[in-house]
Formats: sequence, C-alpha cells, structure tokens
Amino acid sequence: MAENLLIATGGKEEKYSLLYEQLKAMVENEHDQIANMANSSAMIHATFGFLWTGFYRVIGNELVLGPFQGPLACSRIRYGKGVCGTAWKTASSVIVNDVDEFPGHIACSSESRSEIVIPVFSGNDVIAVLDIDSKETGTFDDTDRIWLEKAVLLLAREHD
Ligand code: SME
Repeated sequence: MAENLLIATGGKEEKYSLLYEQLKAMVENEHDQIANMANSSAMIHATFGFLWTGFYRVIGNELVLGPFQGPLACSRIRYGKGVCGTAWKTASSVIVNDVDEFPGHIACSSESRSEIVIPVFSGNDVIAVLDIDSKETGTFDDTDRIWLEKAVLLLAREHD
C-alpha cells in the first residue's frame, strides 16, 4: 500500500470517494482484520480531522476498544449501552446530531458534540462497530452513513 494518504479537496463526496479507493487498495494487500481496522481509522481520521475515530470489537457480551485515533477512550461498552451499544443491538447505523440529546450517551470525551456509529458485519453478525466523534454538533449525515457503511464492508471478514 502507498504510505502517503491522498486527501481530496472539495466536499464530503470527493473526500470519501478518494478515501474509499485507498481503503480498498489497502485491504486488498492485507488480510489481518485488526491491521485493517488500524489503518482504516488512521485514514478516515486524517482525511476529515475528526475528534475520535475508531473501532470497538464484539467480544462476548461487550464491545471492547480496538484500533483508534484520538484521545483516550472507554475500554468496554455493554450491549445496548450508549450509541455504540445501540448500533450493535439494533444492527444499524446511528447518527447523533447532539450527544446531549441522546439518552444514555457515554461521554468518553467532554469535547464530543456529535457522533456516528456504523456496525461492521460478518454475515448477519455484528462483529464490531466503527465509532466517529466530532467536536461540532450536526457533523454527520446520510452522506457519511452511506460511505462509511460501504467502507466497513471492506473489513467484514478475514480473507486470504
Ligand atoms: N460515545 C460512545 C462511547 C465511545 S466514545 O465516544 C469513543 C457511546 O455513547 O457509545
């Protein structure tokens, strides 16, 4: 994989489009899921300059902190708890425009104002979630959701 990340100028669409091509090239050359989660979080984080970008992996009845970029975060989240646990339980993406208005939001960082969480599937099972936090309210919309849902399909399973 190229070691230099290219970041498109322009809006979200342009940025996600170029990011996706690089994520695809990266996972084609590496089958280890944790390595791919690590580089994916770094690439998404650097492209958009979010507050926190990372993965929680499903281990038993909890989400356990995985590869991430950003400040120190909670290590474990229980099923159905917070935004991450809700995305796991409902097996669907969750966009929170204002974390103060999401009952049960887990504040790992007091700087977080809005959030998006995308489940990572292997078959029908949620095996992880991608969690992204922003310092501003209302950062995430359907453009983010659609591209990020497409991006995590690249991580769905180990491959040879
Ligand atoms: N806010 C998340 C917890 C994880 S941190 O944001 C990194 C939640 O409510 O699940």
